[in-house]
Amino acid sequence: MRRAKNSEMSNTIVVGAQWGDEGKGKIIDFITEKADLVVRAAGGSNAGHTVINNGQKYVLHLIPSGILWEDKLCVIGNGVVLDPFGLLEEMAKLRGQGVKITPENLRISDCAHLVMPYHKSLDRAREAKLGDKKIGTTGRGIGPAYADKVNRSGLRTILLTQPEILAHELRDRILMHNETLLAAGVEEVPVEETIAKVLEAAAILAPHITNTAVVCHEAIKAGKSLLFEGAQGTYLDIDHGTYPFVTSSSTTSGGACTGSGVAPRMIDKVVAVCKAYTTRVGSGPFITENEDIGDMLHNMGREFGATTGRARRCGWLDAVLVRYAVMINGADELAITNLDGLDGLDEIKICTAYKLRGQVIHYPPSTVADTEACEPIYESHKGWKQDLSQMKNFADLPDLAKAYLKRVEELTGARISLLGIGPSRDQTLVV
Ligand code: GDP
Ligand code: IMO
Ligand code: MG
Repeated sequence: MRRAKNSEMSNTIVVGAQWGDEGKGKIIDFITEKADLVVRAAGGSNAGHTVINNGQKYVLHLIPSGILWEDKLCVIGNGVVLDPFGLLEEMAKLRGQGVKITPENLRISDCAHLVMPYHKSLDRAREAKLGDKKIGTTGRGIGPAYADKVNRSGLRTILLTQPEILAHELRDRILMHNETLLAAGVEEVPVEETIAKVLEAAAILAPHITNTAVVCHEAIKAGKSLLFEGAQGTYLDIDHGTYPFVTSSSTTSGGACTGSGVAPRMIDKVVAVCKAYTTRVGSGPFITENEDIGDMLHNMGREFGATTGRARRCGWLDAVLVRYAVMINGADELAITNLDGLDGLDEIKICTAYKLRGQVIHYPPSTVADTEACEPIYESHKGWKQDLSQMKNFADLPDLAKAYLKRVEELTGARISLLGIGPSRDQTLVV
């Protein structure tokens, strides 16, 4: 637990500029020092945010990373889908690591939606049915929970404070979804046992439930700073991502507003987090995928999923994607992480455009078929061949690394403000 020194940050949204796992957890932890509230506004326990401090590793799924700071208020906003069992497990694990979590420092929106056991069963059944066309979900029930929300049949977190109504509504939903599970030949969810377990979890979580839009606005009125912890990444966004190989929420900066009830005009800054290369976990098109880079990173013990442990697919930095992400998120700044992952390479490539059926294009196509038909156009950079992980100042970086970063700024149109050269908090350089 650390205590913040000051509070001089404006309202900032942090988003992922690629397919998730960009290192948002680490960057958010670094800038939380200057925030008062840390807000999660989208996604669920599909997220896995790693923070490493003083040799301790924390992996956050639903709880904002700000919880690792002693005096920060953490908010789970209305845009989140919340698995009460996953949350209790996460709380227990963090408490075991010495983290304080109380209804005073973790507030949960009364309008978030519940992820229930039938959502997970439906998620897995659907993936199994899709076979080799599967999305490669995290199996956390995210898609079916958001589908229930949009279908206006979801259960909101306010019900955790109303046990009788919760039991009644939950029975209705279990019976409804069991019909689908039965038709799919999948084991049904036990009715009474599930209700009893959910009511037990509800009694523990009820004191955390409140109107978090009001919590955020009162904080803003009191001159406090909000930090929005993005989950997933731009290309997993339900609208802007590589549909259908996406998650089911709005992962881009606009989602932070609808998912929290804080209006766009209250936002002062957007920071997009981006690896110095690209990774993706799950299925879907990936133009700059490169097995050699994957082998190199996996052999270094890197790029295994924080939530599912799956090996991430790896490739060169795709500046077309990052430029477009900067545009639709309105990003003022880029935080580049994992630059040290490229330390050993003689040659480093950046994709600057695509060739689609003989034509050069500068924006990601909107269909999977067109994306798969794209060929990357690369430019080549000489590697710095030096261990960056112990560098203390940006100025000390080798010229070749500085040149690579300068080119990333030119290609993406955003200023690099933070740089990651290792997984620990103290391996973050201010540029
Ligand atoms: P998130 O989901 O965006 O928070 O990212 P994850 O935590 O899922 O994955 C990022 C991985 O990269 C984690 O293992 C981090 O510890 C690690 N990481 C983050 N920044 C850096 C960096 O600059 N260098 C190195 N070597 N690892 C980093
Ligand atoms: P963080 O916040 C990387 C991917 C899954 C799958 C697709 C849909 O740690 O960056 P879902 O379970 O959401 O229905 O899966 O989205 N995915 C992520 N990939 N990082 C994440 O979160 C992800 N959350 C979902 O692998 O391809
Ligand atoms: Mg992650």
